[in-house]
Amino acid sequence: MDSGSAVVQAPGAIPVVGHLTAFLRAPLPFLRGLPAHGPLVTIRLGRQRVIVVCDPELTRTVLVQDRVFDKGGPLYERLREAGGQGLASCPSGEHRRQRRLIQPAFHHSRFPGYAHVMAERMDTLLGGWHDGQTLDLTTETRRIAADVVISAIFGTGLDAAVHTRLATDFHTLLAGFTRHTLTPKPLRKVPTPGNLRYERATRRVRRTMADLTTTYRAHGDTGETNLLSLLISARDPESDSPALTDDELVDQAVTMYSAGTETTASAVCWALFLAALHPEVHDRLITEIDTVLDGRTADWSDLPRLIYTRQVFTEAIRMYPPGWFLTRRTESDTRLGSYDLPKGTTIAYSPYLISHLPGLYPDPETFDPDRWKPAERGPEVPVTVFGGGARKCIGDQFALVEGVLLLASLVSHWHIDFHPDSLSLPRLPQLTLNPGKMKATVTARRGGEDRQRHTSQSRVP
Ligand code: HEM
Repeated sequence: MDSGSAVVQAPGAIPVVGHLTAFLRAPLPFLRGLPAHGPLVTIRLGRQRVIVVCDPELTRTVLVQDRVFDKGGPLYERLREAGGQGLASCPSGEHRRQRRLIQPAFHHSRFPGYAHVMAERMDTLLGGWHDGQTLDLTTETRRIAADVVISAIFGTGLDAAVHTRLATDFHTLLAGFTRHTLTPKPLRKVPTPGNLRYERATRRVRRTMADLTTTYRAHGDTGETNLLSLLISARDPESDSPALTDDELVDQAVTMYSAGTETTASAVCWALFLAALHPEVHDRLITEIDTVLDGRTADWSDLPRLIYTRQVFTEAIRMYPPGWFLTRRTESDTRLGSYDLPKGTTIAYSPYLISHLPGLYPDPETFDPDRWKPAERGPEVPVTVFGGGARKCIGDQFALVEGVLLLASLVSHWHIDFHPDSLSLPRLPQLTLNPGKMKATVTARRGGEDRQRHTSQSRVP
C-alpha cells in the first residue's frame, strides 16, 4: 500500500497559538478559506491539531464510518461534562443500544401530537407579547424552543420556576462552551468568575434534571407518553430490568435539552432576519402565511401548504447551520481519501463550510430560498446540516416541524422591526451558530394589514 498524501497545514499559523487567533477573530471566513488548501487541512488551535474535512464526499465517509471516526475530540469531551454518555456524546459501542431505545420517541406517528403541543405552547407564549414591545428575539425564541422540548421530554406540566432555572443555567453553560472547549485543561481549572459560573451551571443543570427524573419516576405515570416515560418504561430484553439507570436518564434529558433548544431557536431567528433583509422574500413569506393561516397560529394540518415558509427555513439553516463545527477522533489507523490517519487523530467537520462550497451551492453567500423549491431540490435539506450516518440528528424532523410552525406563527401574529444594527454575531460562535442578541420591536398584525411593511434597517455582519 502506498504511503498516502500528506495533509497540508493551513497557512498563517503563528508560534504557540497556531491558528487560534485567526479562528477566534473571524471563525466563519476562516472556515470558508480552508477548502482552497485541500480536501483535508490541518489547523492548530493552540496545542491541539485538528484536521478539518473540506470535501463533501470525505465528510460523508467520516459520518458513515462512525466506529472509526468516533465521537471524541475537544467538543465531545466538553459535552460529556454536562451530557454524560447521552445519545449525542456516547461512544459508538454504546450508541446503537441507546438509539434503539430513543428512536420510538421520534417515530413519525408521534409528530401530529408533538405539533399539537408545539402549537399550543407557541400560542400561549407568542400571545404573551405586547403590542409595541421591544424584545430580544434570540432569548424569546429560545424560551419557546425550550418550552417545546421540555414538553416533549417531560410532558406539559413543568413548573414555571424550574423552567426558568433550567433556561438560565443552560444559557450560562452554552455561552461558556466554546471558550471552555478551546482552553487548555489547566486553565479551565483556574477559579476565574467565568469558569466558576460555567461549572456551577453544569452542576445545577444535572441536579435539576435529576430531581425531575426522580419525581417523574415516582409520579409520572399519567398515561401521557413522552420521551421520559418511554425511557423509564423501557426494559432490558435479557434481564427485564430497567434499560436505563437514573443517571443515564439524566444524561438523555440534558442531551435532548441542549441539542434541541438553541439549534431550532437560532434557525428561526436567522430565517426572520434574513427574510427582513430581503423584501421580495419577506413579501412572499407573509403572503403565504396570511393565505394559509389568516391570523392564526400554525398547526400540523397547515404544514403541507406552508411550502415557501419551509424553503425560507431550509435556506436559513444552509446559510447559518446551527451545528457549525463538530469533532471526531479516529479509533484506529485508517485511510480517508488518499490520506493515512493514525489512531487518535482529531478530525472536525463543518456543516457551515460544506454549506458554503460554491461547487454544491452556486453563489453560496446569496440567500435564495428558491434553491429549495420542491420541484428543483435534490436532497430535502442541506447536506450535513443534520450530520449523517448512524449519528445523524435524531431530532431533524422535530426541528423542521417546529421551525416551520414557529416561523409561520410568529409572522402570522407579529410584525417585527429589527433595530438598526440589532444583530451582531457573537465574536465567537457558541455551541451553535446563534445570532447573538436580536433586538426588535413587535407590533400586533391584524389580518395582514402590513403586508407591504418591511422596515428592517439592520445589516448582516
Ligand atoms: C435546526 C435544528 C437542528 C440542527 C441543525 C441539528 C443538527 C444536528 C447535527 C449536525 C447533529 C450531528 C452531530 C455530529 O455529527 O457530531 C445532531 C445530532 C443530534 N441532534 Fe440535532 N439538530 C437540530 C435540532 C435537534 C432537536 C430539535 C433535537 C431533539 C429534540 C436534536 C437532538 C439531537 C440528538 C439527540 C443528536 C445526537 C444523535 C445521535 O448521535 O444519535 N436536534 N443534530
